[in-house]
Amino acid sequence: MPVRRRDLFASAALPLLAAEGFDFDTPYNRIGTDSTKWDAQLRRYGKDSIIAGMGISDTDFRSAPVITAALQKRLQHENWGYLTMPASFPQAIIDWNKHRYGITIHPDRLLLAHGVHPSIISAIRAFSPQGSKVLLLTPTYDGFFGDITAAGCIAEQVPLKQSSGRYQLDLEALDRHISHDTNTIIICNPNNPTGNVWSRDELSAVGELCTKRRVVLLVDEIHCDLMTKGNQYTPFSLLSNREVVNNSIIFKSASKSFNLSALRCSWMYSENSEYMKRIAATGHSTDINTLGVIAAQAALTQGEPWLNQLITYIDGNHDFTADFIKTKIPLLSYNKPQGTYLAWVDVSRLIDKIGAKAQADKANQSRPATARPITAEMILQDWLVKNAKVQLNAGTNYGHSGTGRMRMNLGTSRQTLNLALSSIAAACNSL
Ligand SMILES: Cc1ncc(COP(=O)(O)O)c(C=O)c1O
Repeated sequence: MPVRRRDLFASAALPLLAAEGFDFDTPYNRIGTDSTKWDAQLRRYGKDSIIAGMGISDTDFRSAPVITAALQKRLQHENWGYLTMPASFPQAIIDWNKHRYGITIHPDRLLLAHGVHPSIISAIRAFSPQGSKVLLLTPTYDGFFGDITAAGCIAEQVPLKQSSGRYQLDLEALDRHISHDTNTIIICNPNNPTGNVWSRDELSAVGELCTKRRVVLLVDEIHCDLMTKGNQYTPFSLLSNREVVNNSIIFKSASKSFNLSALRCSWMYSENSEYMKRIAATGHSTDINTLGVIAAQAALTQGEPWLNQLITYIDGNHDFTADFIKTKIPLLSYNKPQGTYLAWVDVSRLIDKIGAKAQADKANQSRPATARPITAEMILQDWLVKNAKVQLNAGTNYGHSGTGRMRMNLGTSRQTLNLALSSIAAACNSL
């Protein structure tokens, strides 16, 4: 039956698909779909080199049925010309944030984007002159380094402190790093890759420092839906100090929670209309592809039961991993994080055992002075592919303080996770 034009964006009219009992357990084969997590690694390391891609931050699950149904419905209308944004999409973002977290987003202070990267680049351009510093609390998401460079600025790392097995904000160090040429700081909550979920007090303290030192705070909350059991996300815009909230811009998307990364659709908002005007004036593009809008709108309006079940499943994957590493891979250690589907695994003893530091030093001797140095963690990444056929990401990708760590993505079926961990255990335990 032909689809009527007015139905194309009306996801409320879609059939309600199974509200419970979604299948996260059956492995969903992504090989052959040009996926970064699997196919790109097979291209890099060779045919049959990988049995588990556990790297880039997306998930392996079959999409929420409501998303697939909405996309299939739109595909029936075979025209892909320019899109005028339907009012229902920003409304879906506003309603989702209100309903799930009690956040009020004013429609005139909301800007859409084709991804969190482009919106962060626009925000840096709006506030940080070229050549100035942007501070990062590391280890943190490696993509920020590229965003800062793309905006013509310089990333400066402020390492998080480690105490009692948890990363803590180092406010004194942050204060010291702020200078006359610091206009923006990026904070990530929950923090990719460590999985820290910053508390209300921690967020307030960073926010107050930024207000005092006149630095605009960019808060990336893309992973905010993905909490582990017993933990709660504090939306930055709900802090009680309005001056602090007014000095921030929040970046979000449905792309982590619903695995829509390649459909390129996200949003940013602030209480501060002047800030949003400045970002819009950079030439920031709010164009999003039609399918990205359809998918994100279906996710936000109908995907909550799927997401809630996913969150429980991911929590189970963290418990499974913690138990597996504790009981079967004594060379590694791992603490369950407060959020994200990422495991930040301590591999320092494995690095020592395989002599990865010496190998990295040797590899660097023959590299041009301008090349990015090889780290022990990168050597370990290749070692794990060669010996366990599992691809993880080197901790040093996320800043100098990622030394001795690897990031392992747990957003996959328990079966694939078990396969990956068993293979890593066999490789480690045969040393
Ligand atoms: C913290 C964080 N911010 C931003 C991104 C990228 O967002 P997008 O794909 O919307 O540009 C990622 C992806 O891994 C991320 O982890």
